[in-house]
Amino acid sequence: MSTVGVHLTVNGEAREVEVEPRLLLVHLLRDNLGLTGTHVGCDTTNCGACTCHVDGEAVKSCTVLAVQADGSEVTTIEGLGTERDLHPLQEAFWKHHGLQCGYCTPGMIMAAADLLARNPHPSEEEVRHGLEGNLCRCTGYHNIVKAVLSAAEHPERASEQQPEPSAAGEAAGREFAAEGLGA
Ligand code: FES
Ligand code: FES
Repeated sequence: MSTVGVHLTVNGEAREVEVEPRLLLVHLLRDNLGLTGTHVGCDTTNCGACTCHVDGEAVKSCTVLAVQADGSEVTTIEGLGTERDLHPLQEAFWKHHGLQCGYCTPGMIMAAADLLARNPHPSEEEVRHGLEGNLCRCTGYHNIVKAVLSAAEHPERASEQQPEPSAAGEAAGREFAAEGLGA
């Protein structure tokens, strides 16, 4: 089958990929670019596990052809934060136990990021309504909603929230750790 060139920016990096015209964006992200944080839960636009951002808006990437994203800016969960510098939503999901198996989590967080970009101070009802397109089989949604409300209250990155420990604090911590290890 013939292929088509797709040029897009993914997580801030320019990418060029040759794809079959029928390829879905979610498969371009996962299979061509190795960004497996974007999940496939249903392939039929129901679950939201494949949610990423295209030109700043949350989309279910199983409903978009890769060629439709030509020229777009795409952000996936990998582009939101890093292990050492979590996005406020990632931090809040961790703190409030907003996940169990984690399968829905990347899509849930990308949908929540879009929601907070449009409505930085949502009510609980607005959060529940805003995440209606994302299904979770594990959590019962309660802690997910708590996490999103918490991220709305603390929109700074975790790295901005935690001041560097003072030299005295570090020394006391080392002493405590040494005692704890029986040194
Ligand atoms: S995989 Fe896209 S909505 Fe379920
Ligand atoms: S945490 Fe398992 S599906 Fe949501």
